[in-house]
Amino acid sequence: MKAGDQTMAFSFAGKTVLITGAATGIGRATALAFAGAGAAVVIGDVDARAEATAGEIVAAGGRAVFQKTDVGDSGQVKALVDRAVTAFGSLDIAFNNAGLLPPTAPLAEQTEADWDRILRVDLTGVFLCLKHQLAHMAKVGRGAIVNTTSVAGLIADPGMAPYVAAKHAVTGLTKAAALDYATQGIRVNAIAPGLVRTPMIERWLADPVLRDRVLADSPIGRVAEPEEIAGLVLFLASDHASIITGAIYPVDGARTAH
Ligand SMILES: NC(=O)c1ccc[n+]([C@@H]2O[C@H](COP(=O)([O-])OP(=O)(O)OC[C@H]3O[C@@H](n4cnc5c(N)ncnc54)[C@H](O)[C@@H]3O)[C@@H](O)[C@H]2O)c1
Repeated sequence: MKAGDQTMAFSFAGKTVLITGAATGIGRATALAFAGAGAAVVIGDVDARAEATAGEIVAAGGRAVFQKTDVGDSGQVKALVDRAVTAFGSLDIAFNNAGLLPPTAPLAEQTEADWDRILRVDLTGVFLCLKHQLAHMAKVGRGAIVNTTSVAGLIADPGMAPYVAAKHAVTGLTKAAALDYATQGIRVNAIAPGLVRTPMIERWLADPVLRDRVLADSPIGRVAEPEEIAGLVLFLASDHASIITGAIYPVDGARTAH
């Protein structure tokens, strides 16, 4: 499936979507897919390369803005939510996707500095996004939010304890947020990708031994492309998913089917 194929099935005309972590990878592919389906896109990322994602959307005739945002900073996240409203008049959908991987090491060798750094982005970042997005969405009485957890938010993988802990917590946070806002017109779900070909795992794919090891764990026998993840995000954000909230969806080629 190529970027844009999903756009035939959905229309987000008149909707504003906030996406974190869209410089590269899953966030970038999803930003392009939302824009292709007519949404105005607000991108928050620490990496200024995300400005190119917004530029690509605008060059194709869409609407997008980039605001440099560290998801671990509450003031910056609130400013990003405010920017969606000032730039495009509303915040209808959010995709909380920014994330980081720790160095691969057994738990006793993980440093406290890496623990704090990973938890700050992968867990606190999602909490802060939810907090400020839900405050706005509760005022208008509608909204759809999708968080990116991981197969590591459903099962553990060796050598990445801070990430596994953060992603399991994002799985729980998604359910908790869904329950708190279920009667207020706001849905909160999460996607749990398996291996996706993005800069995050390029060091694994570049090493033939590591690559064979991670692919041995993949029943489908291959790595997903970012565009194969975007379709589920668009579905969950759309009115087709109007009864779906508090759910976690693996997108993992049967990795968690065992
Ligand atoms: N690639 C995979 O195999 C895989 C598998 C499961 C889950 N995920 C998750 O998917 C999400 C997207 O990752 P990806 O694979 O596309 O990798 P990626 O590295 O391409 O994208 C991560 C994005 O997050 C941004 N980011 C990092 N720290 C940030 C911060 N403090 N504030 C704002 N933005 C920040 C990066 O600049 C980048 O744009 C992550 O949450 C990741 O944990 C990835």
